[in-house]
Amino acid sequence: MENTQNYNSELNGKIALVTGGTKGIGKAIADRLRDAGASVIVTARNHPGTDLPHHFIATDLTVASETAKVLGEINEKFGTVDILVNNMGGSSSPSGGFSALTDEHWENDIQLNLLAPARIDRAVLPGMLEQKSGVIIHISSITGISPVHESLGAYAVAKAALINYSKSLSKEFTPKGVRVLTVSPGMVKTDTMDAYLHSLAGEAGVSVDEITQNLMNSLGGIPMGRMASPEDVAEFVGYLVSPRASYLTGANYVIDGGTIATV
Ligand SMILES: NC(=O)c1ccc[n+]([C@@H]2O[C@H](COP(=O)([O-])OP(=O)(O)OC[C@H]3O[C@@H](n4cnc5c(N)ncnc54)[C@H](OP(=O)(O)O)[C@@H]3O)[C@@H](O)[C@H]2O)c1
Repeated sequence: MENTQNYNSELNGKIALVTGGTKGIGKAIADRLRDAGASVIVTARNHPGTDLPHHFIATDLTVASETAKVLGEINEKFGTVDILVNNMGGSSSPSGGFSALTDEHWENDIQLNLLAPARIDRAVLPGMLEQKSGVIIHISSITGISPVHESLGAYAVAKAALINYSKSLSKEFTPKGVRVLTVSPGMVKTDTMDAYLHSLAGEAGVSVDEITQNLMNSLGGIPMGRMASPEDVAEFVGYLVSPRASYLTGANYVIDGGTIATV
């Protein structure tokens, strides 16, 4: 069905920060928010090398001292962040289940997927509280609800904690004007997902199609019959941060093409 709504100006005048906004889901979200009129700041460790229509800040946000630097730059150049999308995340842990994970794998996955977003929230919230408005989105994953122990144990635990943390943040700050929400995608067709599938296929000695099917099956299948596109997720986030979603807060929204079997 063709989208006939006009979102062109609903985020006019809003400042949006999208962490990890140079690739995959984050890039699609940054572009979507800009299309709706927001001024968008994206962070990543590396410039993607192509022209970016957003303000780019090079930073590794898993390094604790970087957060204050980044927010200092944003406050000076733009002012208060109205919309924060904590999108950055992922895992560099090996597959092989519980015994393959060292303390370092656990620490890396928890740092990237939980502690870094919590630090950014801590830096952004005072401005939102002062103006008594703002929206914070945490991008989690369905693995936080439905663990894939074989390959994503530490990552899934960090994402589960992120969902829980996001809920408690919402309880504390919604009464003060800040909506806090979680979005948990299922499999999304990004370059990182493609690389992950290639590496799993290499390790297992099977084709990428086969490993993709195996992974989809291990999640219980995707009734929609395909992975999400980054734009599928971005469209929903674009709605959640808009005034049209002004009553929504505290919830975790699964966007997985029907994958999760529980109600
Ligand atoms: N793809 C999926 O199937 C899927 C499913 C469920 C949930 N998710 C979640 O959705 C979010 C985005 O996933 P994606 O697949 O779109 O990821 P992606 O394509 O790998 O992009 C990740 C982004 O984060 C940046 N980044 C990574 N580590 C960083 C660091 N330490 N400091 C600053 N920036 C960093 C990357 O840029 P640099 O590398 O240049 O730093 C890039 O811009 C993640 O939270 C992921 O866990 C993804």
